[in-house]
Amino acid sequence: MFPSHRPRRLRSHANLRRMVRENIVTTNDLIYPLFAVPGDTFAQEVKSMPGVYQLSVDKIVEEAKEVYDLGIPAVILFGIPTEKDTEATGAWHDHGIVQKATEAIKKAVPDLIVVVDTCLCEYTDHGHCGYLDVGDLTGRVLNDPTLELLKKTAVSQANAGADIIAPSGMMDGFVQAIRSGLDEGGFEDLPILSYAAKYSSAYYGPFRDAAESAPQFGDRRTYQMDPGNGVEALKEIELDIAEGADMLMVKPALAYMDIIWRVKEATNLPVAAYNVSGEYSMVKAAALNGWVDEQKVVMETMTSFKRSGADLILTYHAKDVARWLKQA
Ligand code: PBG
Ligand code: ZN
Repeated sequence: MFPSHRPRRLRSHANLRRMVRENIVTTNDLIYPLFAVPGDTFAQEVKSMPGVYQLSVDKIVEEAKEVYDLGIPAVILFGIPTEKDTEATGAWHDHGIVQKATEAIKKAVPDLIVVVDTCLCEYTDHGHCGYLDVGDLTGRVLNDPTLELLKKTAVSQANAGADIIAPSGMMDGFVQAIRSGLDEGGFEDLPILSYAAKYSSAYYGPFRDAAESAPQFGDRRTYQMDPGNGVEALKEIELDIAEGADMLMVKPALAYMDIIWRVKEATNLPVAAYNVSGEYSMVKAAALNGWVDEQKVVMETMTSFKRSGADLILTYHAKDVARWLKQA
C-alpha cells in the first residue's frame, strides 16, 4: 500500500466528513404529491400508503399551507373525479377537480408552485391513459386522438393557475402537442416537466389505489417503457427536448438510478426523479415493523437520488424529509 493513499484520513471527524461531502439533499429539491377528491372536509388515508391522504379541496388547501410552511417549494396534484367516462371529461373540464384544487391553492398560498399531472387515466372509465378504440380490450391507446385531449387538459389546468404542466401519459408527441396548446392559449411562459422516461412498473401499485386509476383490463405496456431498456430512455428524452420540454423526469427512481444518471449526463435540463408509491410503501411497511430506521433509510435514499444526478425529487416522504432537515 502507498502510505500516502489513505482515504480514511478524510473520514475521521463528523465536520471533516461534512466538508468533503459531495451531495446533499435540501428542502428546495422536494415536490410533494397530493390527491384531490370531491366533497367537503374529507380526508381518507390511502390503505397501502400510510400517511398519504385523499383530500377534498378545503383540506388540500390546509395541507398546501403546511407544506409551504415546511419550506417545500412545490406540490404536484392528482385528481379523482366524481365520474369517469370514455372522453376523460373530468380531466379537461374547467370545473374539474384538479382545476378547482389548483385555483384554491393558488388563492390561499400564491407562492407555492403548483405542478399538475396531465394524464387521462384517473378520468377514463377504463383507467387507461388515453382514448381506446371502440371494443378494444387490450389497452392499445390511440395516440393522436389522445393528444387532443391532453392539449385541452393542459390549457384548462393553465387557466386554473397551474405553474408547471407535467404530462405523464407517455404518448408520442405529447410535449409538442401540449406546448402548442399552451402557446396558442397565451401561456408561452408556462414550463413543461415531462415524464420523459416513464417505465411500465409494478411500483405504481399503491398509487393506483390512491388515484383509483388501475386499468380495468390490459396493462400499460403499449405506452410505458419496457424495464429492460436503457438506451431507449435517451431516445425518449431527446424527443421531449426537441419538442420543448423544460425539465425531464425519470420514473420510478430506485430501480432506475442508472437511467437518472444517463439522462443527467445527456442533458443540460433539470432532471427530476419520481420516488414512486411502491417505493414509499415498502419503506413504510418495513419501518412500521421496526425492521429499518425510517429516517436514516429515507435520508440515505434521498441523498442517493442527488448523487445519481437528480436535481428534483418527487416524494411522498417530502414532509418528513423537510422536518428532519429542519431538526438537523
Ligand atoms: C398516471 C400516473 C401514475 C403515476 C403518476 N402518474 C400511475 C400510472 O402510470 O399508472 C405513479 C406515481 C406513483 O406510483 O407514485 N399516468
Ligand atoms: Zn396516466
